[in-house]
Amino acid sequence: MSEALLAPERAAQTPGVEREPALAIIDSQHGPMQVRPGEALLDTLERHGHQLEYQCRSGYCGACRTPLLAGKVYYPEPPLAFVEAGQCLPCCCRPVGDITLDLSHHD
Ligand code: FES
Repeated sequence: MSEALLAPERAAQTPGVEREPALAIIDSQHGPMQVRPGEALLDTLERHGHQLEYQCRSGYCGACRTPLLAGKVYYPEPPLAFVEAGQCLPCCCRPVGDITLDLSHHD
């Protein structure tokens, strides 16, 4: 299993993987964005003016699937939608440290 898919409990048990939310998201096109504690990545992106596709906002449909170019995310609740390494579901994940997303297919 990719580290990107670890729930916080498992992340805490995995060396090198931390639970704390990121201080910043780095978007490859638009610069840094601040993440608020407990905020889903999709909420952060919307607060900064990005309009991502979504349907369920809870990890079921996969509509929000986004390339994760660098960094790690975790899922407080394991998503049902398929997500590969190098992708994330912003509606239900949170960054672990700084991350880089490719938002070019959303905006
Ligand atoms: S909006 Fe459905 S998985 Fe993200």
